[in-house]
Amino acid sequence: MCGIFGCVLRNEMAGPIIRSALERLEYRGYDSIGQATLSSGKIFVKKDKGKISEVQKTLNFDEMLGKLGLGHTRWATHGMPSKENAHPHLDCDGNIAVVHNGIIENFMELRKNLEPKHKFRSRTDSEVISHLIEDYMEEGENLEEATRLTAKRIKGSFAVAAISNQEHDKLVCIKKESPLIVGVGEEGVYCSSDMSALLPLTKNALIMEDGELGVLKIDEIKFIKIKNGESVKKEITKIEWTLSDAMKGGYPHFTIKEINEQPTSIRNTLRISPIYHELIASKLCDSERIFLIACGTSYHACIAGSYLFSKISKIDSRPVIASEFKDQYSEILNSKTAIIALSQSGETADTIEALKTVREKKASILSITNVMGSSITRFSDIYIGQNSGPEIGVAATKSFTSQLAILTKLALTMATKRNSMDEENRREIDRGLKTLPSYIEKVIERVDDKVKSIAKKYVDSESFSFLGRGINSATALEGRLKLLELTYTPSLAYPAGEVKHGFIATVESNRPAIFIAPRDDNHNKIINNIMELKSRGAKIISLIEKDDKKIIEMSDDYIEMPQMHALLTPLTYIVPLQLFAYYMAVEKDLDPDKPRHLAKSVTVE
Ligand code: F6R
Repeated sequence: MCGIFGCVLRNEMAGPIIRSALERLEYRGYDSIGQATLSSGKIFVKKDKGKISEVQKTLNFDEMLGKLGLGHTRWATHGMPSKENAHPHLDCDGNIAVVHNGIIENFMELRKNLEPKHKFRSRTDSEVISHLIEDYMEEGENLEEATRLTAKRIKGSFAVAAISNQEHDKLVCIKKESPLIVGVGEEGVYCSSDMSALLPLTKNALIMEDGELGVLKIDEIKFIKIKNGESVKKEITKIEWTLSDAMKGGYPHFTIKEINEQPTSIRNTLRISPIYHELIASKLCDSERIFLIACGTSYHACIAGSYLFSKISKIDSRPVIASEFKDQYSEILNSKTAIIALSQSGETADTIEALKTVREKKASILSITNVMGSSITRFSDIYIGQNSGPEIGVAATKSFTSQLAILTKLALTMATKRNSMDEENRREIDRGLKTLPSYIEKVIERVDDKVKSIAKKYVDSESFSFLGRGINSATALEGRLKLLELTYTPSLAYPAGEVKHGFIATVESNRPAIFIAPRDDNHNKIINNIMELKSRGAKIISLIEKDDKKIIEMSDDYIEMPQMHALLTPLTYIVPLQLFAYYMAVEKDLDPDKPRHLAKSVTVE
């Protein structure tokens, strides 16, 4: 999730206007920043790795004059944070500058075709855009048509702004599945990834839809369809938001925004080139021993991941809490061991310490992280980026589902290599994964109000227990962690089969039990567990597949979920639990974005 901004101005102030717009977009990405302006017929670019405030000290973007310009704040997906990989990207001769937010899925193939003729300077997927536009302009197209034709060639998601020194009065922008808004002000026209950058400049916005191209000139704005060049009419929308509303996309908190972003973040996660999965899967298949290590939410993804590895890939792996790893396992590591480290931040001290031991023992380090260039990516032999975009709420939400989506893909890739699952079943899971974003969209839409009312009803409960079986014992742990973090409510999480071995003694009516109970192979057993607790006076809240009459009858409250492959259920059943924790925090008047005593990135052991 990067931030892009572009402007066409009456005055020459492009440099400072873009810089201050990027400061307001920085929450969308902050590993690199760059700007391009057009002045005296030439394009000037300043860019570097680092936060805006740091880079501004050395590069001083405010000195960049011009009426036309672009800017970008980056959250790396393809290519580490570096000066070369920072946007804007130029064509070979520096006549065209481009900024991009999104993921170009077919960039490798496009780059291969372009490389013999073009000079690439970065490792990003985005740079193909400037070279494609260059080719079309060389063939005689203007910037508008060259950008339209380029948009038809690229697959994936994009919000792109482009300028050329051949057409000094305009900026061209295109959109598909990444946000883009056009602002119309007295002093200029603008395009931006979101409202936050537009706020001090104008309250008049034109919202771009997928598949559209905009041509912005100071006194004329036009929109066309990328598909066929047909003209599109738009009405001005008045922006009534404050800056903080705008950054949160209109949601009251980042946490709820990020819960709602999961369809998009999973879509982006699944866009990662299969090559990365192939590399990691090969390494895992060749290893004698596999550990999945992490802390907190990432550890819960490891637990679910180890179920997926054994059930789909028929391969043994062990999830281990990073802070315990060295103590228990350092003596049995060797070069035939593979470690998968999961970390949203890529900076968690306990995970890094565990990896130091792993490195000493020459085991392979494979990682899944949301922050490219983080310590954990630097420690790793191979890594996969989560592509979740920055997660600002302290509690991990969208990063959990992205990590799990990657682990599911890895398990499927290993299954193909090892021929460990019948093809039909493997395909069913693969198809399920692809439809997951739209399923989650529906889940959020359907359950949001119900979860809110359940949170209201149970807000004064003394504690909760979260119970699931099989892969959903990981969902139970993660649901419990969300509630703990956001509401400080003491709660338990158990594999449901374990309740009779002690936990059952704690059952009371003011301690509701939340059952994660899809209609899977464990269904009958979990019904027994529900009965065990119900008969001892527990209030039952259940997460069930639609129309599961048996469990509905036993439940005080229930949330119905769509039917899906049993192994994909943690990816969706966690969503109502995230919502539950969030609405409980709101009911209790707590700040869900910043729970007390917690840090987003735990950099001490
Ligand atoms: C849970 C949470 C923490 C982190 C843990 C690991 O909501 O935010 O428990 O999951 O600190 O962090 P990463 O994934 O950055 O290594």
